[in-house]
This record gives sequence, structure tokens and C-alpha cells, in this order.
Amino acid sequence: VFSVPLDFFFPLSKLDLSSRPQLFDFHGVGMIPIFTANWENVQNFQARPDDIVIATYPKAGTTWVSQILDLLYFGKTSPERLTSLPIYERVPFLEMTIPNLADKLPTTPRLIKTHFPVQFVPKSFWEQNCRMIYVARNAKDNMVSYYHFDLMNNAQPVAGDWNSYFQRFMEGDMVFGPWYDHVNGWWKKKQTHSNIHYMFYEDMIEDTGREIEKLCSFIGLSPSAEEKEMIKTGVQFDNMKKNKMTNYSTLPVMDFQVSPFMRKGKVGDWKNYFTVAQNEEFDEDYKRKMKDPTLHFRCEL
Ligand code: A3P
Repeated sequence: VFSVPLDFFFPLSKLDLSSRPQLFDFHGVGMIPIFTANWENVQNFQARPDDIVIATYPKAGTTWVSQILDLLYFGKTSPERLTSLPIYERVPFLEMTIPNLADKLPTTPRLIKTHFPVQFVPKSFWEQNCRMIYVARNAKDNMVSYYHFDLMNNAQPVAGDWNSYFQRFMEGDMVFGPWYDHVNGWWKKKQTHSNIHYMFYEDMIEDTGREIEKLCSFIGLSPSAEEKEMIKTGVQFDNMKKNKMTNYSTLPVMDFQVSPFMRKGKVGDWKNYFTVAQNEEFDEDYKRKMKDPTLHFRCEL
């Protein structure tokens, strides 16, 4: 177990938490300063061939898959790591932490999380042919989850009310850009890059064990039946919600009075937020934007 100050993982001292950050256009993608401040260093990051990247649009299941991977790789060999380090220290955020931290990361492989759209991934990861695991979640639930996250996370832009958030999401004025570009960009890349494993949140909900199996074949691990059971239990929503090392309760930028990080963990919560008119408007827009017939999301139209 290693220990570095929280500031390495979340540069809180550099954050002005007296006001919410403004979204700005960065190479055609909505960003906030905390995710672009290290741009040069991040782009020059030197990957190792065994690095594992977990890539997602925010709120698609990053923490869930990060915990599964950490358990798969280190649950047996260093269980103390899982009980003493929060997930953002075990699976650090490329955009913020890696330039400072890469050499200090003690594990092989290094597990690295990113929310970058595919065109922002530093070239070294492609040169080294690193394995990348992309998790996608249906747009409507992704939006609802992101809305609650923006409400409770003081380091994110102001969420506003639901109706204005709904419009902003459709227009794509979000941190890390439009959901549509993100899921489609990674999907397209996967067609020519066998180092990408594309997963869906809804599949994980339907059968976590099956999705862990698929993940294991992709990364070339064969855990015992007992280990797999242990992992499945460890990553159940209620267990991760209770677990201080996965529920983000240790991060001071989040206001759990507004919403917990582990909020509901369900498919179809959008039905509690979308009005009938919003749903129709969304579906029309969705049909126009989702042109690739090979990319299917459940629970949408
Ligand atoms: P909700 O807000 O819909 O509850 P990320 O880790 O990418 O930020 O995604 C967070 C979302 O994934 C939240 O969705 C959270 O509850 C959900 N999540 C996290 N761990 C989960 C688990 N073990 N099972 C189901 N959903 C999970």
C-alpha cells in the first residue's frame, strides 16, 4: 500500500470551490479547467504495454468496472489495497493525476481511468497497444445520473434545473462533450482496434457474472469460481454503496446531502424524470443522431 496526499488525486488546493467552473470549448469538446490544466503532460504520457485503461462517458459505470478490475488483479495478492485506498487512488484519473503520479503507481498493471472522447487519448496508449475497456450506458439514464452528479459535485458546472439540464444534454454542452460523440467515437474505433472491449452498463445489471467472464477473457485472466463469487458479491451495488473505499464519501468536493455518489444503480430511472413531451423530443433527436445501426442501446426508444 502506498500513500500520497489527496491533492495528487484531486488537486483541491488548485480548485476554486467558491464558485462553480464554466464550461468552455476545448478542441471542439466541452471542458472545465481541472481537466485541461495538464493537457501537455497528459498528451505526452508514456504508457506501458500492460497498462489498462477504463474509459467512459461520465456516470456510465466507471467506478463499478474499476472496482471489478482492481479486485480481479489485486484482490488476492493485495487485499489491503482494496480496504485502505479509495477507488480514485487505486484507479487514478488520467486527466488530472497521471502526470504527477505515473511513476509512483505501484502496481502492474497500472489501472487508469479516463473520460476522454477517443480522439483525446494520448498516442502512447495506441502505440503500446494497451487494453482499453469502454463502458457505455443508455443515454437517458446516463443523463439523469449526470444531472445528480452535477448537482452534488462542487467541482462541476452548475446543473441548473432539470428542464434546462435536459436541453443542455441534447445540445451536447456537457463536460467531456456530447454523449453521442463519445459512445459513437469509441464504438467506431473499436471496429478497427481489437485492444478495445466495449461493455454496456445494462448488460452488467442483467448479469454481472457473465460480463465479468467476458472481461476476464479480454484481459486474459482466469480467476477461480470462488474468486469470481467473491468479486460478484463485492461489487454489488449495496456493498459498493456501503464501502467507503468505493462510495466517494472521502472526497470533500461532493455534497452527499444533495445526492450520494452511489445513487440508485438502476436501469430505467429516467422514467422518473423525463416528461412525456421530453421523451418524444429526445427520441426524435436520438434517431437523428444515432446513425450507426450496429450500435444498440437498450431501454431507449
Ligand atoms: P446512478 O446515478 O444512476 O445511481 P460512474 O462511476 O461512471 O461515475 O457512474 C456512477 C453511476 O454508476 C451511478 O448511477 C452509480 O450508482 C452507478 N453504480 C456504481 N456502482 C454500481 C454498482 N455496483 N451497481 C450498479 N450501479 C452502480
